[in-house]
Amino acid sequence: PRVRADGCYVLPGLIDSHVHFRTPGLEHKEDWAHGSRAAVAGGVTTVIDMPNTVPPTLDPEALVSKAELVAGTSLVDYRFHLGADPRRPALLARLDPGIATTAKVFMAGHHTAPTVVRDPIALEKIFAAAAIGGVRLLLHAEDESIFTLLDQWQGEPRSYLDYERRRPRSGGISAVARVLELVRRYGTEAHILHLSSAEEADLVTAARAAGLPVTFEVTGHHLSFTDADTRRLGARIRLSPAIRTQADQDRLWEALRAGEVACLGSDHAPHTVEEKTRPVPDAPPGLPGVQELAVAVWTGMRRRWPEEDPDLAATRLAEHLSARPAEMFRLPGKGRLEPGADADLVVFDPAAPWMLSAHDVRSKCGWSAYEGWTMTGRVLTTIRGGQVAWDAERGVFGRPEGRWLSGAAAQDRPRTEITARDPRHAETEAQGPSRGAG
Ligand code: NCD
Ligand code: ZN
Ligand code: ZN
Repeated sequence: PRVRADGCYVLPGLIDSHVHFRTPGLEHKEDWAHGSRAAVAGGVTTVIDMPNTVPPTLDPEALVSKAELVAGTSLVDYRFHLGADPRRPALLARLDPGIATTAKVFMAGHHTAPTVVRDPIALEKIFAAAAIGGVRLLLHAEDESIFTLLDQWQGEPRSYLDYERRRPRSGGISAVARVLELVRRYGTEAHILHLSSAEEADLVTAARAAGLPVTFEVTGHHLSFTDADTRRLGARIRLSPAIRTQADQDRLWEALRAGEVACLGSDHAPHTVEEKTRPVPDAPPGLPGVQELAVAVWTGMRRRWPEEDPDLAATRLAEHLSARPAEMFRLPGKGRLEPGADADLVVFDPAAPWMLSAHDVRSKCGWSAYEGWTMTGRVLTTIRGGQVAWDAERGVFGRPEGRWLSGAAAQDRPRTEITARDPRHAETEAQGPSRGAG
């Protein structure tokens, strides 16, 4: 098929290193057929999936069985983060990099968290073992006090707005401080997920400037909503860590502008409408976002910094949603547009205004907190492995031929290369200016 690209950016396929596609065990919320369609509709060609499934993926065996379940069902390439098990920290010291190179640690959590690491000794052992095994730890660094407050309300229905008014503002500052102390002690590579507050951004940026191997992720949700939106959206935007104040959001945008953010992630965490409309504390935290991430961030960038050269903005998007995650998560062939790279491309129309409605939502949960948002910018075509995976004009998807990017597979799989001579890409080349961003 011909690919229209006039006036568009052609970006390297986006990498979302933080999705919850819910297989196995939670397929009533999401599955790979729906989740990967949502991904390609949002320009994402590679995802890394989280371990808090049922059962959770806390060891290589569980991870391999998950890979077997997902095989043949995904439109995007994929990898899996392991979950750190407080009862078996030593697993991380001898983890086969062909299976996984990352492990998520839940330092606090709702019942969606598989195994919350509450014991400080277990946490320390996890950091020590990960340093030995060369495993990058991904931290859900949130303070337990948040959940204690909610637990006290057990059986006593409250609105989420009511909870929001009383919620302690500390967020994850003491959890982040503990992480930095352990990184200092063991030299473990640490990546703080869904960082949500100004003081945490300041703390991590200072630690990084002092030479610690620590990075952080910001989600599209924390860049798009503030606690003021709770009045309208209620527990739909209940998220862990919570959506915070305007001042916190402003600081996260500044972190993006300054390049302090390592990567953007969606934290695509769908729950059904029924689950989200239960009274607090039963409405689970998390909302879908893999489809909305790039357009929401683009819309935000153009609104906040209208004077900025759009080429720079597009470069920033490609940097934080493709190049950096490819490097951090060791995804050879991903994250760049050059000969030898995988033929994963997004054709992005930077100017198209459109309103998002529930009808556009591809996630199985069927709703979006962004319904009614007027977006600037639209994903026209997504190409994965040289094949069209999403064509917005015709509204059609490709075939579920996404591959498991296990470390071993990354070394010996055949490459689909981008070359000007390849007729499949010649049309993209010929159709219009590829205002290069990458
Ligand atoms: C996630 C989920 O629902 O799986 N929810 C969330 O609010 N972020 C769990 C998580 O990532 O902590
Ligand atoms: Zn988390
Ligand atoms: Zn998450």
